Amino acid sequence: MNNQPIGIFDSGLGGLSVWQELVKILPHESIIYFADQKNCPYGERSPEEITHLSSQIVDFFLEKNCKMVVVACNTATSASIHHLRKKYALPFVGMEPAVKPAALLTQTGKVGVIATKGTLSGERFHEIKNKYAQDVEVFVQVGHGLVECIEAGEWESPQTEELLKTYLEPMLEEGIDQLVLGCTHYPFLKKAIQHITQGKVNIINPAIAVAKQTQRLLIECDLLHESQEAKPIYSFYSSKDTQEMQRLLEHIAPDLTMDMKGTLEV
Ligand code: DGL
Repeated sequence: MNNQPIGIFDSGLGGLSVWQELVKILPHESIIYFADQKNCPYGERSPEEITHLSSQIVDFFLEKNCKMVVVACNTATSASIHHLRKKYALPFVGMEPAVKPAALLTQTGKVGVIATKGTLSGERFHEIKNKYAQDVEVFVQVGHGLVECIEAGEWESPQTEELLKTYLEPMLEEGIDQLVLGCTHYPFLKKAIQHITQGKVNIINPAIAVAKQTQRLLIECDLLHESQEAKPIYSFYSSKDTQEMQRLLEHIAPDLTMDMKGTLEV
């Protein structure tokens, strides 16, 4: 048993799609969220840069006494999780595009993956594709500019939907029936995605699976909070400012009490 908080980070607001699922299945755990919005997006940065930034964030979580870290960012997982696991004696949960369930579920034999350039060009993505998707066709698309739209609070604007359409329509024309959201920002575009895909695809958001994996790992490492009555504290830090984060949180979790801590340099 361990009553210290869990640390969770992303380049920006995307990891809140994972945070949202974590608070549902682990309602007694305190959680510290860090959004590296000053350095967002990570998608076009080098693995070395991302590893450096991720290490600084983990150092911050250690100062805050975190018992576990959730890397709620596909790009940062792909670039840095091996390094983080070697460097720190902490349990880490990472993310990767959900190619495996997509390959199992497809009826047309065609699946689409939308993610950042960093994730799609990373070794990890090629490994999982070779391992789980040998018998299906995988269509990949970099979501250029989508992270920026979400960071700017434009998750439901017509311009964002237009941009998204240019990425999804070619995959729909190919006949995909599964769409993997390979970036934690994209679940915030679900409405627009549904509008464009018109029920033709199954949208796969791995956030629930990641939350369940976090729960499993807490149990396995005997790190669950000792009290099933405990009232959790949710704290939020950003390397820029917490304004947009607050707005998104009001939208996704209006009933929860948040502790907005403000800016922290990394
Ligand atoms: N949310 C991120 C991911 O899952 C990072 C997006 C970015 O910063 O480019 O990959």
